[in-house]
Amino acid sequence: MKATAIAPSNIALVKYWGRRNDRLVLPYNGSISVSLNDLFTRTTVEFSSDFKEDIVVINGEVAEGEKFSRVINFVNMIRDIYSIDDHVKIVSENNFPTSAGLASSASGFAALTLACSKALGLNLSDKEISILARRSGSGSASRSIFGGFVEWHRGNRDDGTDSYSEQIVDEKYWRDFRIIVSIVAKSEKKISSARGMKYTVETSPFYKGWIDSIDNDLKRIRSGILDRDIELVGSVAEHNCLKMHSLMLSTVPPLIYWVPGTLQVIHTIHKLRDDDLACYFTIDAGPNVKVICSKNDVKEIEDVLTDKCSIEDIIVTKPGKGARITNSHLF
Ligand code: PMV
Repeated sequence: MKATAIAPSNIALVKYWGRRNDRLVLPYNGSISVSLNDLFTRTTVEFSSDFKEDIVVINGEVAEGEKFSRVINFVNMIRDIYSIDDHVKIVSENNFPTSAGLASSASGFAALTLACSKALGLNLSDKEISILARRSGSGSASRSIFGGFVEWHRGNRDDGTDSYSEQIVDEKYWRDFRIIVSIVAKSEKKISSARGMKYTVETSPFYKGWIDSIDNDLKRIRSGILDRDIELVGSVAEHNCLKMHSLMLSTVPPLIYWVPGTLQVIHTIHKLRDDDLACYFTIDAGPNVKVICSKNDVKEIEDVLTDKCSIEDIIVTKPGKGARITNSHLF
């Protein structure tokens, strides 16, 4: 009844922003991401009739309030589906700085889903685990089940059985692909993705334009990945990110996740591109910028970013493995 899982964080190249069904976490659009080799969560889960209550420990701190309920609501859903009565103990750790403003919910909920399914002996397929992870507090967790480049299918059915993630190519396919995570602010975001995207769907006048443009972005990114074409993948990912931020800016009340350091990196990347260096940026629901480039250009880009921008931290990473079970338990 005890199991431990490791799951990678992921960065979307075509973003997920908006749910057509909140309860089932069904997206309005498909998305494509890359799972990251150097940013991951390890989670140990144990269900036992001996436990008197549920306990959740995240990065050494006992979770309370919203942090606790976000995790336990998801576990309750699993307990309901599989008729489990036992209390649970969950201990979870990120290998990257927690307060770094990096998305930890995708890796966290992917690791939690896999560890729960193993601890309960559910024998689920990867597809089923990705569907279950989709229903967590973080829909993008469904993508973190797989390694390499991953597509989360929008699906059409009302029950969500065709909205799951699938690997496009594994982490070894494109060995030169790199992401430079540039941390410009370590603050936690004020508005969660779930709440932010709900406001966007309800109020942004540009939402239809976003949806109409997605299929083309998905098609171009898929073919760019297969061809290992950094210009194509980078330019489509950057444009897709800017479209998502246009939705955010045009939401009422507006979602402005950028800080001055974010724009410094954006302008620096554009300047490097003017000088013929193939580098592109993408930004999620926060201020930090992820730079997409090839292995050979990492050093030069890193030096310029450190020199020209107020960067607090830089992590260079590449495509990594998907979620997996390990024997090294956290308790
Ligand atoms: O999966 P959530 O609810 O954490 O939302 C993820 C939203 C973005 O990171 C902005 C986009 C994405 O596809 O990862």
